[in-house]
Amino acid sequence: MIEKYCIERVGWKAAMGRGKFQFQMAVMLAVALALGGLVATAQTADQAWLRYGGYHGRTIIPIRVRALGAGSIEQSVAHELQRGITALTNGSVTWRGSAFTGETIVGTAAELRKDYPNLHAPDGLETEGYWLYWNGDFDKADLFVVGSDERGCVYGAFALLRLLATDHLLIPLNLVENPAMPIRWVDEWDNPDGSIERGYAGRSIFFEGGNVRDDLAPVAEYARLLSSVGINGVNVNNVNAAPQLLDADHIKQLARIADTMRPWGVRLALSVDVASPQKIGGLSTFDPLDPTVCAWWSAKANEIYALIPDFAGFTVKADSEGQPGPASYGRTPADAANSLAAALAPHGGVVLYRAFVYNHHADWRDPKADRARAAYDIFHPLDGKFAEYVVIQIKEGPIDFQAQEPVSPLFAGLEHTNAAMELEITQEYTGQQRHLVYLAPMWKQVLDFDLRAENRAAPVKEIVAGTSFHRPLGGMVAVAGVGRDAWLGSPLALANLYAFGRLAWDPNLSPEEIATEWTQQTINTDPQVVGTVVKMLMQSWPAYVNYTGPLGMQTLTDITGSHYGPNIEASENNGWGQWHRADHLGVGMDRTIATGTGYVGQYPPEVAKTYENLATTPDDLLLFFHHVPYTYKLHDGKTVIQYIYDSHYEGAEQAAELEREWATLEGKIDQKLYEDVRARLEYQGGHAIVWRDAIVQYFLKLSEIPDEKGRAGHYPGRLEAEDAKLTGYKIIDVKPWEDASGGKAVTCQASTVPPANQSTPEQQEASGHDFSRAVQDTKPNRALAPAETRVCTAEWTWHGPAGRYNIAVQYFDLQGGVAKFTLDVNGKPIAKWDADATLPSKRPHGDNSTRHAVSSVDLKPGDVLRVEGTPDGADHAAFDYIEVTAAP
Ligand code: GCU
Repeated sequence: MIEKYCIERVGWKAAMGRGKFQFQMAVMLAVALALGGLVATAQTADQAWLRYGGYHGRTIIPIRVRALGAGSIEQSVAHELQRGITALTNGSVTWRGSAFTGETIVGTAAELRKDYPNLHAPDGLETEGYWLYWNGDFDKADLFVVGSDERGCVYGAFALLRLLATDHLLIPLNLVENPAMPIRWVDEWDNPDGSIERGYAGRSIFFEGGNVRDDLAPVAEYARLLSSVGINGVNVNNVNAAPQLLDADHIKQLARIADTMRPWGVRLALSVDVASPQKIGGLSTFDPLDPTVCAWWSAKANEIYALIPDFAGFTVKADSEGQPGPASYGRTPADAANSLAAALAPHGGVVLYRAFVYNHHADWRDPKADRARAAYDIFHPLDGKFAEYVVIQIKEGPIDFQAQEPVSPLFAGLEHTNAAMELEITQEYTGQQRHLVYLAPMWKQVLDFDLRAENRAAPVKEIVAGTSFHRPLGGMVAVAGVGRDAWLGSPLALANLYAFGRLAWDPNLSPEEIATEWTQQTINTDPQVVGTVVKMLMQSWPAYVNYTGPLGMQTLTDITGSHYGPNIEASENNGWGQWHRADHLGVGMDRTIATGTGYVGQYPPEVAKTYENLATTPDDLLLFFHHVPYTYKLHDGKTVIQYIYDSHYEGAEQAAELEREWATLEGKIDQKLYEDVRARLEYQGGHAIVWRDAIVQYFLKLSEIPDEKGRAGHYPGRLEAEDAKLTGYKIIDVKPWEDASGGKAVTCQASTVPPANQSTPEQQEASGHDFSRAVQDTKPNRALAPAETRVCTAEWTWHGPAGRYNIAVQYFDLQGGVAKFTLDVNGKPIAKWDADATLPSKRPHGDNSTRHAVSSVDLKPGDVLRVEGTPDGADHAAFDYIEVTAAP
């Protein structure tokens, strides 16, 4: 019991006098601070939003915590409450009123009935729900945290701490909340070797070297973090699943993860390879209808449940992107899902079968081929054929986590089947955590979207909650991608993890409310700070859409590799089907029923009617549904081509604005946090310019229609590297051409001939291997190139007027070394920096094009500007241009 814990640890006695109590509290706080100091270097949930910082004088709450039950979940909850209340009230506020007594009591509804027969939990309390109830007066009261079950206690306790941390008055308090949907999971795409597919925050907290890590302390902290926002399941391994995780030894190891998360009510789930019976089971087949295969899965489930009694279930990626599947035997996804469900159902486990099934060798010359159709075409005919414990996990849009897509029509196409929505917290197509992109507004659009199934209200949030079609199961699953680098690498990216949990609990919350809560708990409660951060978060997704791929064109990135920087043609002329069909005359994919792929017809009639018709299609999805000439006029009369130009300039400006807004917080927030985010926003501002210029110059060349504002293709103040007086530097063509100003850059590479037995980066990338799926820190790896000691220079003579200027150097920060750069004027260095970021690729292009800005430099005609680059390993100190603009 927590009381006992406290007595043992700090000698806190319930009946002590006030003065003595305060002394003891001081001791307790000192111990807590010391512990905090000790764990400061470890990876903890406090580094996210569970900081319990800030003391709010107006809150009164019983500081003494007692759990009614002895189970491990209630014990961790009571401990958390004690820790949180003590920190948030400074350990003393409850004792201001001299006679205040009372306890914060946590327990299940059943325990409450037994111990407090006169108190009745409200009827509306449902599975995993909670009731917070203030019972008494100002000076004598008990505060009850009642869960309908043990998990409900967890969620109730964290809700109470959230109310406290966000400065809500707790008297009177009589609040019942239930989760909107039963499945609220995160998926981690972690591989047994410790790498993470599409992860941007270091290595796995779960695995290393083929096994579960010895140190699972971060996993316990992660479970604590997740449960604080109501998440109740974690699938710990990549959907491109490693079959060996199902062998006896690995199941034992995985049981340690489950044990670690259990005190927080978080259950373990696993991704499975449906060919496992053959790959590791020694069977000659993995046909889901073969009795030996069914028996194998059933025995495997028994083995798992013997060690992990609360195992949550399997996630399945099959017949997708090279993964084996039931199609090999002429079987359907329903056959495969049901055979797995039959193995899990006796134990209460579920199968989350992913609808992400499509042909990635589609014929791009076929105007009727359309990847967007695949999920509906395959799964809709199977509606009603899935077993009770199967849930179809549907990506929010029909393609693949793009910056902007329409809602998947499959949500309305499964009326007799459980459905869950899958989204990405890890920012695969949305800036990979190097860009600030708060995704809650996008998810909220999807959740609120009314599919009008059967011509009645059917918003996605009600479909996945199971209410629209009266389904027993449903939910939301997010690919999180947490790693050992501060969970998500970027501090502000954690707002997405937080928002996912809050929306899965209550999809009616607004993104602003969620951002406000998150900021108050994570940064501080100063209204100016909160206002600024919330504003920045809310601006970030529209800005990203503006400078990447507006009008429903999707993220115009390298879709076969990194999914990061601009690469407009990467989507075309291949079988992956993320086509946008841009040509000389127009752009967009015709998906109409009348003349296109017919995808529009997958929506219920009212929605289909809207998208079928050009005039009623919303501008922001226009090019997803229609192919139009560049001169086509949007609803406000602006042409498509002019919108492309304008939105990119606007988006880059919005990105710059984020940095300016953050600057107003200096001194008002933690300095380390300030500096960390400032550097990221500075990078983002520079990369937004790379995006802007790439897309704008690409469409200018393709359409040959000039920007009516004269910006596209004109870069006043830009001094191109290829026009400089070069010593050592060689001019190269950048691929794709639009990623460099004028398509050219310079490199200080001594020779393009690779050392023996080694291919060039170009050859490696052309081999088709997707190097960037599992992101590694490649900076320290210099083995790929011989050591170089050369230095190259580029020089320009300044012919502009005398004055004060800002100078930006656009260089390529390549993998495989840390090149050094110096910018000098008349031989005097004005800036030196290292190209030490970890960005995709060893070839110079938009993934690694980076800006270094120097402000307030005095120049006069005749001055010589010089960039000096010193290559290191495979980083050849390549650069694109310098840009000189008048300082404000
Ligand atoms: C995306 C992602 C892959 C992932 C796939 C999936 O395509 O790039 O790395 O495997 O989604 O969701 O299965």
